[in-house]
Amino acid sequence: MDRPHHNTDYPSPRQASMKSPRRNGQTAAPDPRALPPPTVEEQAHSANLHRLIQERMASSGGEISFARFMELALYAPGLGYYAAGKHKFGAAGDFVTAPELGSLFARCLARAAGSILEQTGGDILEAGAGSGALAADLLTELEALDRLPERYLILELSNELRDRQAETLRRKAPKFLKRVHWLDALPGDFRGVMLANELLDALPVERFKVTDSGVRQLYVAWENDHFVWREKPADDGIQARIEPLALPPGYASEINFMAEAWVRSAADVLKQGALLLIDYGFPRAEFYHPQRSEGTLMCHYRHRAHDDPLTLVGLQDITAHVDFTAIAEAGRDAGLVLLGYTSQAAFLIGSGLEQLLAASDPEDARAHLELTRQVKKLTSPHEMGELYKVIALGRDVPQAPIGFSLHDRRGRL
Ligand SMILES: C[S@@+](CC[C@H](N)C(=O)[O-])C[C@H]1O[C@@H](n2cnc3c(N)ncnc32)[C@H](O)[C@@H]1O
Repeated sequence: MDRPHHNTDYPSPRQASMKSPRRNGQTAAPDPRALPPPTVEEQAHSANLHRLIQERMASSGGEISFARFMELALYAPGLGYYAAGKHKFGAAGDFVTAPELGSLFARCLARAAGSILEQTGGDILEAGAGSGALAADLLTELEALDRLPERYLILELSNELRDRQAETLRRKAPKFLKRVHWLDALPGDFRGVMLANELLDALPVERFKVTDSGVRQLYVAWENDHFVWREKPADDGIQARIEPLALPPGYASEINFMAEAWVRSAADVLKQGALLLIDYGFPRAEFYHPQRSEGTLMCHYRHRAHDDPLTLVGLQDITAHVDFTAIAEAGRDAGLVLLGYTSQAAFLIGSGLEQLLAASDPEDARAHLELTRQVKKLTSPHEMGELYKVIALGRDVPQAPIGFSLHDRRGRL
């Protein structure tokens, strides 16, 4: 049985090492002493993004929805967090994702993806490929499994990250580069496996707050040289989703309409095959649990986690957990079948993690220790094992991909 996470003690998803607590339902401003100061160049960069966001606010009547603010903060061309040159991933960046820990995650995922390709043929499309580490390790393992697809497509918004992905592939897996193609948008149609690790949590979310007078939507404005929160009556889409949940006054959280739209668009072009999505999150009942009354929004800056998205704009990551019920519903609405839903730990073990560990040479103590370290990070319930989930949604895939039989949690969605 899953225990609901209390929002005061849930682990920071992206393996950041420090977090500032939330206070009394208010978003706590990070303690400035807890966050390393940005460099002069970083401050200048952030100031440029401030100006752009202020212009957008001015042309929208003085304020923009939080989703629009998050979109600009993360993806404004040349200035947003993911669009500019910051390192982001790994020890030298702001947070660590599963593919950055080593190749074990990709090797397991290759087995699951291979079990789909075996049934459907076709290609792999990875959306939001980060540093390119997953693409390089996945292609290497798919070759070892004799399941190498003709094409590995990467859908990536950030030009800066596309360059980094190409560089990683050149360095780690150059012989596969000719199979890799970068896309600006989803293809017209697609057969095979579409996968994404930590894409959905990086898509802009709306924020809302329940009050005695109804559901309010959060906006962002500029006042006295700072970004500040504003509240307005929530739009119809938010009202329709939140009112039936009967959340108490004071409750604040997020809705990720963009993640749902992304799944619907991907489903529309998927002629045969499956979507395989890995991210941190919960089924809806846990996502909007009474005890999670301040939502799930988190920011990451140089391995510190805190919950103020209005600071360090353009320099820090902003992320929210995923409502996996909404993802399953979006897939079903678009005609996909829910093939599997489970924790990352159960998925990786079901995809052969233990066999991979057993096959490592115990005489090579250093390699064995390194593998054990990855297993612990990826599967421990206190690290990524339980908070992270894997969902598979498919069309014309007769058998569920491997990885989901150990602990089928579809009934919880
Ligand atoms: C949190 S990072 C995860 C990166 C990588 N998958 C990993 O696990 O390390 C999110 C990635 O999604 C990309 N991204 C965000 N929105 C996107 C979209 N609509 N289409 C494609 N990529 C997107 C970002 O540029 C970034 O590469």
